[in-house]
Amino acid sequence: MTASFPRAEVVIDLSAIRHNVALLASRAAAGAQTMAVVKADGYGHGALEVARAAVEGGATWLGTCSLGEALALRRAGIGVRLFSWLDTPEADFAPAVAEDIDVAVSSLDELARVADGVRRARDFSGLTVNARVHLKIDTGLSRNGCPPAEWQALVDAAAAAEPLIEVVAIWSHLACADELGHPSIDAQAKRFDEAYDIARTAGLNPMRHIANSAAVLTRPELHFDLVRPGIAIYGLNPVPTEDDLRPAMTFKSSVVLTKRIPAGESVSYGHSWTAERDSTLALVPVGYADGVPRSLSGRMDVWLGGRRRPVVGRVCMDQLIVDCGDDEPAVGSEVILFGQGALGEPTAREWADKLGTIDYEIVTSMYRPRIHRTYLEAGS
Ligand SMILES: Cc1ncc(COP(=O)(O)O)c(C=O)c1O
Repeated sequence: MTASFPRAEVVIDLSAIRHNVALLASRAAAGAQTMAVVKADGYGHGALEVARAAVEGGATWLGTCSLGEALALRRAGIGVRLFSWLDTPEADFAPAVAEDIDVAVSSLDELARVADGVRRARDFSGLTVNARVHLKIDTGLSRNGCPPAEWQALVDAAAAAEPLIEVVAIWSHLACADELGHPSIDAQAKRFDEAYDIARTAGLNPMRHIANSAAVLTRPELHFDLVRPGIAIYGLNPVPTEDDLRPAMTFKSSVVLTKRIPAGESVSYGHSWTAERDSTLALVPVGYADGVPRSLSGRMDVWLGGRRRPVVGRVCMDQLIVDCGDDEPAVGSEVILFGQGALGEPTAREWADKLGTIDYEIVTSMYRPRIHRTYLEAGS
């Protein structure tokens, strides 16, 4: 085996990211800009690399969860608008204000902390900086966001804090956009309209944004001024109606050993699988420490030597075993655990369906110290 056969590697196709962002931007209603969501290290794909590709694909905004994520992008040279929406109560807004990051506000307390951040940013920068704030209304997801009953007070306080606070947007997040026709979507849209009317009556003239990937693809009337797709920019499809997205992540490894076993031999911990006939086994050096769920033992395939083959016996911490029948894959042969699906190889969605979860969880869990991440451009 040579160094060109990594034990565990995720390969990110940046041309797929560009393609997906361009596709989503083209689906956005006229006048709506596109914010590519790159939180959680770009859903496990690498925030900075994804950010650059997304901007090349047409994103004019990038969205992160934490201020730390946004600051890292800004300090790495990302120049587009950055919006960050959820931090702990001790988060310091001063660097965000100084480094031109838009922030979310859901409460009077948060508004006061942002205003405090502006004052301190002015002190240390010597510049008359203001905070660009997006007021979040909770329209029915019941996570963060201001409850409708407190919205008027928040809007009034934000309006009174101008110009220290510049209210650039009101925004919200949908609970069930991936369930087409779910009644909560219209109910949330109605509350969003009401919140907007209150903001306008208070003298504000904010942008509006509420659409995640599923709403970008299915609810054009909810695109307003800005859409916030996440999962779809990675090529994972939140709704059945879209088939032009290209998954960007391939998870692969390689064969490090093969051996022939006679019928009747059992394999891996617990001997949960016994060969019914003489067979060649291929050992692949990835396991649950590398993101292959142990609960997929005995119910997953890999792509090896031009076809799917079953993983047999238990997935271990560092290795798994593939039944190759009478085939003899060479040591070093590529093993695809999941990929784009174009060859017939398993996909992240297939893993998610088997595990009773969503593909978001599969790809975001691929950020691990032992997994080597590489980036692929078209044709490379
Ligand atoms: C506030 C916010 N906006 C947008 C998104 C993107 O959602 P999706 O990945 O479903 O497109 C997320 C992701 O969870 C989010 O938290």
